[in-house]
Amino acid sequence: MVVVAAASQEILKPHLAIEGGHALGGTLRVSGAKNSALVLMTAALLTQEPVELCNVPALTDIAGMCSILESLGMRVSRRGDRITLVADQLNGSEPPYELVNSLRASFFSIGPLLGRLGHARVPLPGGCRIGARPVVEHIKGLKALGAVVDVRHGVVTASIPGQRNRLKGAQIVLDCPSVGATETILMAAVLADGVSTIENAAQEPEVQDLAGLLNSMGAKIKGAGGPLITIEGVASLHGSRNYSVIPDRIEAGTFLMAAAITRSRLHVAPVIPEHLSAVLQKLRDCGCKLEIEGDGLTITPGDIQAVDITTQPFPGFPTDLQAPFMALMATAKGTSVISEKIYENRMQHVGELQRMGASIRLDGSTAIVEGVPLLGSAPVTGSDLRASAAMVLAGLSASGTTQVSGLKHLDRGYDNIEAKLTSCGAQINRHNG
Ligand code: EPZ
Repeated sequence: MVVVAAASQEILKPHLAIEGGHALGGTLRVSGAKNSALVLMTAALLTQEPVELCNVPALTDIAGMCSILESLGMRVSRRGDRITLVADQLNGSEPPYELVNSLRASFFSIGPLLGRLGHARVPLPGGCRIGARPVVEHIKGLKALGAVVDVRHGVVTASIPGQRNRLKGAQIVLDCPSVGATETILMAAVLADGVSTIENAAQEPEVQDLAGLLNSMGAKIKGAGGPLITIEGVASLHGSRNYSVIPDRIEAGTFLMAAAITRSRLHVAPVIPEHLSAVLQKLRDCGCKLEIEGDGLTITPGDIQAVDITTQPFPGFPTDLQAPFMALMATAKGTSVISEKIYENRMQHVGELQRMGASIRLDGSTAIVEGVPLLGSAPVTGSDLRASAAMVLAGLSASGTTQVSGLKHLDRGYDNIEAKLTSCGAQINRHNG
């Protein structure tokens, strides 16, 4: 009886019921990039004038960021995929710990708050399931720019000594190409006196997108997207109209893998191919044909063969697509070796894939995946945003109906994933428990 109770408990949690084995077809639309939109929203703190973003995805993380920015006194209005942000009445308060802890990108607001107001108090973002996620590089960069930074009782307090309330340009070398640290330092340096450089900068497209918005606001940034970024400080920044967020390369990669795991020919758009070159190469290596068509890509999977991946900072294979790719490799021919080099604890989806019959041996953060012909349905849980996406992919290909819970993670990063997949032929129903 206990087993039945446990199983029924599983089914009661909010979940997606995914009936596997259906081919996908048509076009899967990609939304604006979560990891760009979130940081672009914090950049609006740097000016009193309106900043208008479009192509903003409808995600719980975006709603969370709106709340955090409003708690700082920013006026935020949303109409469809457009968000208008006006920071002309900042109240100098500290964003609430529980919000910062759940939304890491809000910590990056310490850079623009410091640059704009001359002081900032932001709670330390906790670690999360995938790793400790320190912010040492962010703090080192702010100190190099002349800020006094104190970390006490879980709160980071930063201020600019003296009367001028302006940071000083500096030459900064990052120990690791941290995306968040690069973005935090960029947003602090744009209003500093003099020139700053960031060496060993993160090269992710989202960093480039942030520099694009800041330059549209009057900043003078060169080299974003490469390892050396130069920022010439300016006196102030003006607003920006109609800045469009780049397409989400991680969502696009997830959808391409959904096509591959269901052996479906699918069009995914919009996609900027150079934002995904390492991923596209691995999809070709494992037997998929990829053609550029209009503003997107058409994928035609062949007989999926096992290939190895190692996650790296951009332009290497992105850690955020490691779990979805492992789901694909679980049904490939042969054995693949998947090494996670960015986070120390990002293999929690292995156990859930094993519940569906995947044959995976884990050695630290290296998984040896022996492909099986067919996964079987089971109640499974996504432990983080991308692990949840991996379970959806596994459910699309498995025999039977898979219940995927952990939807609060999924809804953080995927804009209406079941509606998008269902519109292309998937059989998915959301049960709110
Ligand atoms: C961004 O996180 C993304 N989040 C993450 O996406 C993504 O996985 C990550 O970049 C890497 O691409 C947002 O942009 C909101 P990092 P971020 O600082 O900036 C180490 C998702 O699923 N590190 O580049 O926090 C750190 O421990 C999320 O959408 C230091 O050692 O990532 C980690 O191992 C998950 N010291 C590695 O760098 C530091 O001071 C990458 O971290 C900072 C980071």
